[in-house]
Amino acid sequence: MLFSRLRHEGRKRIEDRQELRGATVDRDRVDQIIAKHHGEASSLIQVLLDIQSEHHWLPAEVLERVSEKLEVPFTRIQHIATFYKAFSLVPKGRHEIHICMGTACHVRGAARVLDRVQDLTGIRPGETDLDLKFSLETVNCLGCCALGPVMEINGKTHGKMVPAGTADVLKSYE
Ligand code: FES
Repeated sequence: MLFSRLRHEGRKRIEDRQELRGATVDRDRVDQIIAKHHGEASSLIQVLLDIQSEHHWLPAEVLERVSEKLEVPFTRIQHIATFYKAFSLVPKGRHEIHICMGTACHVRGAARVLDRVQDLTGIRPGETDLDLKFSLETVNCLGCCALGPVMEINGKTHGKMVPAGTADVLKSYE
């Protein structure tokens, strides 16, 4: 009972946020993406990746539409969407910030960079701001340790970061 009420309230909050920020997913666009992959069930993961890439998350209504059009059971799609880290079932910002907290970045001041980004965006790792502009995550290594501290935004690497430089970098993402 309690779990059900919490789930309902959580879903309601997400729906309110979507409505407020105009973040609802364009159903026609979802259909276009499915059509691009010829509506084939074998393209399921690619379809989900394309939708995730454009909308930054996969709402339940979208998974239902994909299930219907590709004739793949909803539970299977849900399983895939929760299994792979590339997919998100909650709203994400247009810009995904990853700050490396691995050893090489840590010893060069990654924690101070993270603090500054938290101050500027108002969010902590694992969170998304209310404007759905930024999502923030920490990671253990981005594979370019010589450039540490490293901050990656939408897959673009920003190396040798210092706290004072983060505002300018974030400003370049609208
Ligand atoms: S430890 Fe940060 S990129 Fe490797």
